[in-house]
Amino acid sequence: MRIGILTSGGDCPGINATIRGVCKTAILNYGMEVIGIHSGFKGLIDLDYEVMTERSLTGLLTMGGTILGTSREKPYSKKQAVPGIDKPALLKANVELLGLDAVVCIGGNGTQKTAGKMARAGIPVIGIPKTIDNDVAGTDLCFGFHTAVSIATEAIDRLHSTASAHRRAMVIEVMGHKAGWIALYSGMAAGGDVILIPERPYDMEHICQAIMNRMQRGKNYAIVVVAEGLPTPRPGRAGEYIASTISEMTGIEARETVLGYTQRGGSPCPFDRILSTRMGSHAVELIARGEFGRMVAFNGESITSVPLAEVAGCTRLVPPDHELIMQGQHMGVCFG
Ligand code: F6P
Repeated sequence: MRIGILTSGGDCPGINATIRGVCKTAILNYGMEVIGIHSGFKGLIDLDYEVMTERSLTGLLTMGGTILGTSREKPYSKKQAVPGIDKPALLKANVELLGLDAVVCIGGNGTQKTAGKMARAGIPVIGIPKTIDNDVAGTDLCFGFHTAVSIATEAIDRLHSTASAHRRAMVIEVMGHKAGWIALYSGMAAGGDVILIPERPYDMEHICQAIMNRMQRGKNYAIVVVAEGLPTPRPGRAGEYIASTISEMTGIEARETVLGYTQRGGSPCPFDRILSTRMGSHAVELIARGEFGRMVAFNGESITSVPLAEVAGCTRLVPPDHELIMQGQHMGVCFG
């Protein structure tokens, strides 16, 4: 068999480990040929690719980013349509031209949506979910998430001492546009006093009261963790809004830190290396069994798969009554 592999959407730690898992299993266990497609779906349209060999895989387990490159090309999107070019038709024709028996698409929600459309168009496709945001439906976890949580947790840990030294409210904005998974996990792991996520409404009066109460209990600083996608009444960054409003309403000095792309860069943590490797390997097992139109998933402790048709385009949000939120509330954490 000859299979193609591409990475699409925002990068995250563990993509290269996944590429390694796919290629090693395909080449060594099944004798398959693997074509690495450059820059996501753009490379499939432009026929920009390389043949993957064992040598191309050296050092990939620990390497951040993606050796194949990525793009936000969405071939079925009307917004990205180019007059005179039928991207969906080109995609299908190029899969046939390259003689691909399957295409492995590593990506987040947008990528799985495209993969679902490819499957509907009759292209044999397998999706592998990746995003630090952890918001792909149908899987309990995406690789990259735990690495991002570790990076955010370490950053918040470091803010405690400077917040305490200056008696400040320290607001840290972490990634997560629609879903607050990183804010919830890093906030709880690093002892945040206030954790704000897009899935839950918040009340500035309530937040300020929680901070004041904490100060009255003898704690001279507060840590506020905010997901970047938190809706705010004015344009600009969520962290900036929360920090300036805390200052205005309480008179406590507040500062914001935006963690940004550091959360997406660098080497995956050991858990993500294992998850990436298992998911990559499982994708090849599915191909070998001829099970197409599916997305690899992590459920409980097992690597399984779900039909792309069921999950593509759906976002996995934090349930507003998530167990960790309830536990945090019992320990005095304010969630808005
Ligand atoms: O990968 C998901 C994500 O990290 C979001 O949380 C973030 O806002 C977004 O990607 C930004 O990515 P880019 O600027 O590369 O489009």
